Amino acid sequence: MNGEDTKTLIRSRTDIVDIIGERIPLEKKGKNFFGVCPFHDDSSPSLCVSREKQIYTCFSCHATGNVFSFMMDYEKMNFAEALHYLGEKVGVEVGKIKIKKENKELQKYYDIYDFSVKYFQNNLKAEVGEKARDYLQKRGIDDAVIKEFQIGLSLKKIDDLTKILTVKKYDLVDLNKIGLSSENHDIYNDRIMFPLYDILGKVVGFSGRIYSEGKENKYVNTKETVIFKKGECLYHYHIAKEEARIKKSIIIMEGFMDIIRASTIGIRNTIALMGTALTKEQIKLIKRISKNIILCLDGDEAGKKAAYNIGNTFKEEDIEVKIVTLPNEEDPDSFILKEGKDAFISYIENALNFNDYKIKIMKEKVNFNSIEETTNYINRVINEISTLDDEIRTEIILKRLAKDFNIGYNTLEKKFLNKKNEMDIQKQTQQKIIKKVEVVQKNKYQKALEQIIYFMLNNDWVINEVKKENLLVTDEIERTLIHEISYYYEMTGKISIADMITYLSEKEKLLNSLKNIISNDYMDQVEKETLYLYFKVIKEENLKKQIKVLERKLKNELDPIKQAKIGNEIRALRIGDNKNGSRNYDI
Ligand code: CTP
Ligand code: MN
Repeated sequence: MNGEDTKTLIRSRTDIVDIIGERIPLEKKGKNFFGVCPFHDDSSPSLCVSREKQIYTCFSCHATGNVFSFMMDYEKMNFAEALHYLGEKVGVEVGKIKIKKENKELQKYYDIYDFSVKYFQNNLKAEVGEKARDYLQKRGIDDAVIKEFQIGLSLKKIDDLTKILTVKKYDLVDLNKIGLSSENHDIYNDRIMFPLYDILGKVVGFSGRIYSEGKENKYVNTKETVIFKKGECLYHYHIAKEEARIKKSIIIMEGFMDIIRASTIGIRNTIALMGTALTKEQIKLIKRISKNIILCLDGDEAGKKAAYNIGNTFKEEDIEVKIVTLPNEEDPDSFILKEGKDAFISYIENALNFNDYKIKIMKEKVNFNSIEETTNYINRVINEISTLDDEIRTEIILKRLAKDFNIGYNTLEKKFLNKKNEMDIQKQTQQKIIKKVEVVQKNKYQKALEQIIYFMLNNDWVINEVKKENLLVTDEIERTLIHEISYYYEMTGKISIADMITYLSEKEKLLNSLKNIISNDYMDQVEKETLYLYFKVIKEENLKKQIKVLERKLKNELDPIKQAKIGNEIRALRIGDNKNGSRNYDI
């Protein structure tokens, strides 16, 4: 069986409704299934999954694809991984399928990391690891935790791991490239080694921590590499992903030691930022596993500042996070060690909504003896709550303000309503602008072309008609797409949108164009008569384009004889155009 057959077989044995349904609740309405789209921020069911066509499309963000693209985008797998995963589910062996060269190379890097993890683990267990084991024990990290988080130890020697890996025939160039060696030296010496995982749980880097006094640089981290993209990395994501679904929330912490500590009290719906600023990619990843986000950063000034900034970033995404402020500058690790499980859980349960948190922070620095500062504070609180969509909370806060400052509730309410009104108008204008951009309508020609292609994908007789008609399509992408569909049909004797998506998976432009077409709400079926009308639109447009080219030529032509010739050509086309326009197709 060749690769193409294997892909088609696995695809045809899989039901996209089951695969998506395992991850997102789907509801049947008519022929199709609907759910909340995971690829954009939404709460209404705009994702449509078709059992008949084995594809999904989102009416809102236009995410479109088959079961493979779903797995790739949702589970962040590459194609080979999606194929293996689904193959296993439906009992098709994928072993012999050719994996792209690039993936083979990445696999080699993962292998090197897997080996290194074991090597570091062995060091920690060996005699040479005694001091490091003592350190971990003193910090309350026992053998079970060491095993769970695959903690290890790098040696005092300068080139031990590099030597072992090169003896195993790994290339020094590769070891340098993936951040384990520098020239022919080890990057890590005499540090406790914490593996860093990508979002699928593969080890892609390390953080090495000192364990004796007086050494510089508490942590040494792997540099950014082809497999370790810091902006896409969130420590513990692969575990938190499952746990967040059960616990219905996700807790964000600063360091991996916090995550490790929380796991000892059974809290595993946690991820760590590891000192990096939050990137767009990370936000997307977090939102995907839960929209109920709790920030539990360090209780020091830096942690509070970060909580404020991250809270605002999520607010821009329309998510109100909850904030935990730990006392006495503790981090989750030290707090749990000192105060224990119940105290920590109570802090998590009493996390403040971001708006309430902001109001609390605002209050901290105000001098209430100053009328100006007090007025300022009240105005800021009112501004803040006018971004809320919660009437009860708004009323509580206003009542509290009225009481605290001995101001009439009505005065405050009036002020609030004015502000709210102002904000609503602002929002509406923004939405209008967005709508305007969206409404840039596709012209008749483009629509006709797209619909012809869509009909080809759903009805094989249309493929033959298009071929018979010998349509001239000037747009390269659409022309190639039509060729590819015809070619695919000739090769396989059938047409299937879902398989077409896989077939075009490495031709990005074509695939995007295909996805764009199928994400439109076009009719599946077409009458011959109507199809010919679409053909006519294409032909008329072609003529118009030809005439335009000639007219431009005519303008620039100085030789009167040539001018006359071009003029004749234009006339001929115009007559042809009319003929064409009134031509009756025999049906
Ligand atoms: N970090 C780092 N380099 C540093 C300090 C911090 O890379 N010099 C990153 C690490 O990923 C760490 C996170 O920032 O997990 C949080 O830092 P910090 O709060 O200082 O670490 P702790 O989790 O408190 O670690 P420990 O308790 O072992 O000191
Ligand atoms: Mn700490």
